[in-house]
Amino acid sequence: MCGIVGYIGGKNAGDVIIDGLKRLEYRGYDSAGIAVISEGAIESRRSVGKLAELGKILRSKPLKGLTGIGHTRWATHGKPSEENAHPHTDCSGKIVVVHNGIIENYLELKKILASEGHKFKSETDTEVIAHLIEKNFKGDLFKAVLETLKTVKGAYALGVISSDDPDTVIGARQDAPLIVGLGNGENFLASDIPALLPYTRKMIFLEEGDVVKLNKDGVKVFSKDGREIKRETKNITWDAVQAEKGGYKHFMLKEIYEQPQTIQDTILGRLFIGEQKIYLEDVKIDDKKLNGLNKVYIVACGTSYHAGLVGKFLFENLVKVTAEVDIASEFRYRSPVLDKKTLTVVISQSGETADTIAALRLAKQSGSHTLAICNVVGSTVSREADDVLYTHCGPEIGVASTKAFTGQLAALYLITLDWAAKKGSIKKDEFVRLINEFWETPSRIREVLKADPQVAALAKEFSQKRDFLFLGRHVNYPIALEGALKLKEISYIHAEGYPAGEMKHGPIALIDENMPLFVVATKSAVYEKVLGNIEEAKARGGTVIALATAGDKEITAKTDGQIYLPEVDEFFAPLLTVIPLQLFAYHVAEVLGCDVDQPRNLAKSVTVE
Ligand code: AGP
Repeated sequence: MCGIVGYIGGKNAGDVIIDGLKRLEYRGYDSAGIAVISEGAIESRRSVGKLAELGKILRSKPLKGLTGIGHTRWATHGKPSEENAHPHTDCSGKIVVVHNGIIENYLELKKILASEGHKFKSETDTEVIAHLIEKNFKGDLFKAVLETLKTVKGAYALGVISSDDPDTVIGARQDAPLIVGLGNGENFLASDIPALLPYTRKMIFLEEGDVVKLNKDGVKVFSKDGREIKRETKNITWDAVQAEKGGYKHFMLKEIYEQPQTIQDTILGRLFIGEQKIYLEDVKIDDKKLNGLNKVYIVACGTSYHAGLVGKFLFENLVKVTAEVDIASEFRYRSPVLDKKTLTVVISQSGETADTIAALRLAKQSGSHTLAICNVVGSTVSREADDVLYTHCGPEIGVASTKAFTGQLAALYLITLDWAAKKGSIKKDEFVRLINEFWETPSRIREVLKADPQVAALAKEFSQKRDFLFLGRHVNYPIALEGALKLKEISYIHAEGYPAGEMKHGPIALIDENMPLFVVATKSAVYEKVLGNIEEAKARGGTVIALATAGDKEITAKTDGQIYLPEVDEFFAPLLTVIPLQLFAYHVAEVLGCDVDQPRNLAKSVTVE
């Protein structure tokens, strides 16, 4: 997620901004930049890489000015490069913008602006905003921004300054966080609290649609239509470490709670619900190759492998193409049959997992078209695959993958729904029904997160158990595997995920009062079968916790603990059923005093074999 800092006051803006951006480094970035108003003109410095690179440039070419904006960029549109680094300017160089978010309609706006003579220097969606403000500027920067916001669609946190209006910093927020810091004779803008703490604890948390005008002696908040509104000033008591975790005790919990936003960020600019279409600009595979595919291999490790197992259902049920899922460290040493009619999908949060990179290279050498689903722009996997679809989850700090997993699922739904529509392998009305179901995911996950207290209570009750079984069927079998992995990797409790229908083929011998079972038993075509598996376990003295659909009384009568989820089309159930299992693992590990964010023996990215 990008970082924004803005300043206006009596200090040297450049110093305040760089210091603030450093406190936002945890958000992850691949380039950075800063612009100030210096002697009536805009001066800016930008660099690829870390802030230390920008610092070197600033030491050799310092910036002097009392008004400025700065940015650390987590690339979404356009590779990490100096020309794509923010701030971005208009044609005149008098207006500069920094932006966090995704402008969904930037391509059409860019075409219109270019036809009107605007010259673009970057591949980013952000630069379009600078040219729109220029087009709307009639001497009042605030009004020009208001006009501009009427035409852009998507998510944005903005910082804007102009040398034609040097005593003002404008901010705006829509589906991306932006905070105002209130000082004495100085005021601040930032994406998050840590950037502001050294200067002020008085903050205004802008709300959706807010536009804010900062002068050095005052701050005014407006609605999108220009009406001044009152926003509460909060006094923040957090220290810097608490602030980086957004007030959560661990990054993992923060990242579990970020999932409604990260899924929305991954969908935004790709699923256009009004137009009933999906547009994946990064994925270039043409229709001829798509229609010629006779097999899909999905290859990954760990949690990403579990996402691939869900992907298998999607490719086979929607795109009607055979899909085989393999663990990368196995795939790379087998002799998989790959050719030009094979698509190899590699899934990797980090894009640096050694086995997954090796599998990707093997697939490419064998002539297979390769598609990467990745969270890190510019990572090895994303650079070497023929096509890449990025998850827009921001950096995942916790070693146990959570938001990256649901981001990977969201990417798989986007790809398979888009290709099913292109191939005509599902009917138009089914496609429309499915994308409308998909669109509801962020709000449904918010509903599921409300069950956190019940999950925490169950975690406390079961935290002393030394073994667990996680059972699921069909599209929820991968979720059983993922729930087991989450529990074992952060609480060090032995846990196994299993297809519920396999119990009779051996594992049922394990069941007794010391082997609790977590069963994914939401309403589905295989619900009755899962119910039968629950009864088999109960008949052998097993303790069963069920993930169930809200209102399901039958499950309540048959199980020892329940977590209820909102009704959802079984196809999209994995996006919801994984959440309570993430929370369960988190709370058990927390109760046991484990190092939740940095579990023993594990690394965030396994860059060696
Ligand atoms: C998941 O919680 C683990 N941290 C691990 O299994 C991880 O998913 C695996 O190492 C793959 O990493 P990648 O997605 O970065 O390739």
